[in-house]
Amino acid sequence: GKHVLSVAQFDRGAIEKVFLVADNMLPYALRKKRTQVLEGAILGNLFFEPSTRTRVSFGTAFNLLGGEVRETTGMSNSALAKGESLYDTARVLSGYSDIIAMRHPQEGSVAEFAEGSRVPVINGGDGANEHPTQALLDLYTIEKERKFHGEGIDGLNIAMIGDLKYGRTVHSLSKLLCLYKDLHFIFISPQELSMPAYICDMITNAGHKLTITEQLEGSFNADICYQTRIQEERFPSQGEANKYRGKFRLNQQTYTKHFQSKTVIMHPLPRDSRAEANELDNDLNLNPNLAIFRQTDNGVLVRMALFALTLGVEDKVSDFDRPVHW
Ligand code: CP
Repeated sequence: GKHVLSVAQFDRGAIEKVFLVADNMLPYALRKKRTQVLEGAILGNLFFEPSTRTRVSFGTAFNLLGGEVRETTGMSNSALAKGESLYDTARVLSGYSDIIAMRHPQEGSVAEFAEGSRVPVINGGDGANEHPTQALLDLYTIEKERKFHGEGIDGLNIAMIGDLKYGRTVHSLSKLLCLYKDLHFIFISPQELSMPAYICDMITNAGHKLTITEQLEGSFNADICYQTRIQEERFPSQGEANKYRGKFRLNQQTYTKHFQSKTVIMHPLPRDSRAEANELDNDLNLNPNLAIFRQTDNGVLVRMALFALTLGVEDKVSDFDRPVHW
């Protein structure tokens, strides 16, 4: 089967195909059209780490295509807690499903699982490593927001803020954005939480401009500001994470101070709404540039597209005049 494990497997052509199919999913997601194209198919939805939107939107996307969903949540509810290997777990569960979506706290675990699987596996996040479907829905959102301003992804100025070390969504998104032209990446994070060096190298080697700073200070010329949560579950201790929580708060006042009136605000969510963190304040909820819930809605379309393409049914749920080759 063809797994979706890393953004590295996508080029611009493959991304365009995913986005074209995703566009065609809108009538189904809005319940204007119905399909049973995946009738009889089963999604194994395996989440060994907490999740709200990735888990539920994978399930919803599969249901909207007519398929059924089997959920396994939490490590303690699975035989992994008895020492079963990822390989054996994959051999077993791939006998019960047609496709598997999986999240796991360990880097590389989903790829290891995929080696034992007899059906396609989609990475829903492996530790601090990657979150490819989030990056695709983020990029899909960026494309839509830019189109609204009459622009494309090439030439984009994007600021990423906060925990760039453990935040897998900013890792995957940065790698995908490297495929485009003449971007300016602005990384704003404490030095201890900076973007991995190999990703910074990838950016500069691809000819993009890169600015790195530790302070949310002055005015940033950014089309997008992408805020992140301090990934406290990946820190050696809670105390260590507390050092950085609340350091880069975005609210109406700081947003206006540091960004332009048309800067689009993104966040993979969940946003930490506790007072000591509150990296994205509720006072921005009615700001039209806040794209966070457009991101989550787009997640269903992109995941429907990935299921349709991976299982080879995209032509049956699309109004293309020519077939899409995956
Ligand atoms: N963005 C994201 O991965 O959210 P969940 O952890 O709720 O799935």
